[in-house]
Amino acid sequence: MSDIGKFVEERLSALKKRPITAATEAGLERSYLRDLIVGKKQTIRADMIEKVAEAIGATPQQLIALQSGEAPARFAEAAVAGRSPVDGKRVLLIIGGGIAAYKCLDLIRRLRERGAAVRPVMTRAAAEFVTPLSVGALAADRVFSELFDREDEQDVGHIRLARETDLIVVAPATADLMAKMAAGLANDLASAILLAAGAPVLIAPAMNPHMWTHPATRRSRETLKSDGIHFIGPNAGEMAESGEAGVGRMAEPLEIVVAAETLLDTTPRPLTGKRIVVTSGPTHEPIDPVRYIANRSSGKQGHAIAAALARLGADVRLVSGPVTIADPAGVTVTHVETARQMKDAAEALLPADAAIFAAAVADWRAATEADEKMKKEGGKGPSSLPLTENPDILAGIGNHQKLRPRLVIGFAAETDKLIEHGTAKLKRKGADYIVANDVSPDSGIGGSGVMGGDRNRITLLSSEGAEEWPEMSKDEVAARLAALVAERLA
Ligand code: PMT
Repeated sequence: MSDIGKFVEERLSALKKRPITAATEAGLERSYLRDLIVGKKQTIRADMIEKVAEAIGATPQQLIALQSGEAPARFAEAAVAGRSPVDGKRVLLIIGGGIAAYKCLDLIRRLRERGAAVRPVMTRAAAEFVTPLSVGALAADRVFSELFDREDEQDVGHIRLARETDLIVVAPATADLMAKMAAGLANDLASAILLAAGAPVLIAPAMNPHMWTHPATRRSRETLKSDGIHFIGPNAGEMAESGEAGVGRMAEPLEIVVAAETLLDTTPRPLTGKRIVVTSGPTHEPIDPVRYIANRSSGKQGHAIAAALARLGADVRLVSGPVTIADPAGVTVTHVETARQMKDAAEALLPADAAIFAAAVADWRAATEADEKMKKEGGKGPSSLPLTENPDILAGIGNHQKLRPRLVIGFAAETDKLIEHGTAKLKRKGADYIVANDVSPDSGIGGSGVMGGDRNRITLLSSEGAEEWPEMSKDEVAARLAALVAERLA
C-alpha cells in the first residue's frame, strides 16, 4: 500500500475510535470527515483547515496533501487526460489582497495535480485573506512576500523569482496591483517581480464592479493589454459585499488553469479550422411532467472526446444530453433533453468536417406524453406504456445525401455479440468507424462499468476490420480517437 493509502487507512480507523465529541465540538459531522479522508470532498475552507485536521488527528500539511492530489486514486481520476501543458512547468503565483484569494488554494491544488511546480508570492494584503501556512503547505514550497527580506534576497532574490519561471499568474489581480503594473512601479516584491518578468503573465482580476469600470482601472487594463499581459475574467456575478452584483468576480480556478494551459501549450493543433460535431450523454424521454425514460450514460466518454478534439484545435460543437459533469473547456455546448432535440441540434450544426456520436440516445419514447402526472388507478399501475421509435440521429447524418461530414464515427453499446452487432451498425448507419464497447455488467471493467464509469475497452470497427484497444481511461480513449480524427482529416 502507498504511504498515502496507509495514511488514509489510519485516519479512517482513528476516526472510528475517536470520541464523537472531538469532531462535533468543531462542528463537523463524522460522515463529512470520512468523505474528506477518502477524498470525496475536494475543498476545505481555508479557515477550517486546522480544525478539520485536528478532528481527524492529522496535521494541516497532511490534510492538505490528502486533498491536493497526492492521494492518487481519487485525484488521479479527476486529473486531466494525458499530459497537461503545465506538466513540468514552473508557475509563479502572485496572490493579491482580495477576498478571492481563498480560491488560490484550489488553484494551487489544480495546477499541482497537473504536474506544475507552483511557487507562491503573497502581497502583504493577501496574507489578510489567506494564511501563508495553507498556501505554503499546498504549494509544497516556501511563500515569498518581502522585497527587503535579507534571507530571501540572498537565497533567491526577486530577479531570480521573476526569471526562473515559465509563467506568472496573478490571482486575484486587484485594482491596486493592476495600477502598479500599468505604471511600472516596483515598491514591493510582487510588483518588482512583475516589472522584471520575462515569462508570459496571466492575470485574473477580481474587484468590486465599480472599481472594474472606473476610468482609472480601464486605463490600467488598456495599458496592460497593450503590454501583452494576458487576462482571464473577471466574471459577472454576485460580489462578496451583500447585494452587490456585476462584473468583477475572479475567474474560477479551473478557468485560470485552462488559460494557463492554453498559454503554455506548444502542441501542434492539426484540427485547427475543422468543425466537429459530438453528441454525448443520455437523453431523457418524458412520460409525464415528472417521469422520464433514461439510461446510465454519464457523458464522460463523449465529453472527453470533445475536450480531446478541442485540444487539437478543432472547433468542437458538443450536443449534450442531461449530465451532471461540467462542460468541457474550449468547446461550444448545446444542452438538450430528448432524442428529437438532440437530432435538431446536431443537424443544425452541419455542415461539419466530422461528427462523432457518443450519446446513448433512447431508442424509444413514450408514444404520448401525459400533460398531468399519471395516477395509480385503484392501486394498479398502467397495464402498459406504449412506446414509439425515436429518430436515429447517426443514421440520418451518416446517410445524408448532401450534408454528410467527411468523417462519421458512431458508437455501439452492446451487451453481447459486440463485433457482429457493431459491424451491422457500421453499415446500417453509414459510419466510417464504429467504436464498439461492451456495456454488460460482466465486461470486466471495474467500478461502475463502462456506462457511468471512468474506463473503457473498445473495439474499433471499420471496413478494414476490427481493431481491439486495451482497457484504458475514457480520457485516453478520447485522446487516441482524436489522433485518429486528425489523421483522417489531414
Ligand atoms: O456516457 P458514459 O457514461 O461515458 O458512457 C459512454 C457510452 C457507453 C454511453 C458510450 O461509449 C457509447 O457506447 N455510446 C453509444 C450508446 C448507444 O446508444 O449505443 P447504440 O448501440 O444504441 O447506438 C449506436 C449508435 O447510434 C451510437 O453512436 C448512438 O449515439 C447512435 N444513435 C442511437 C440511437 C438513436 N436514436 N440515435 C443515434 O444517433
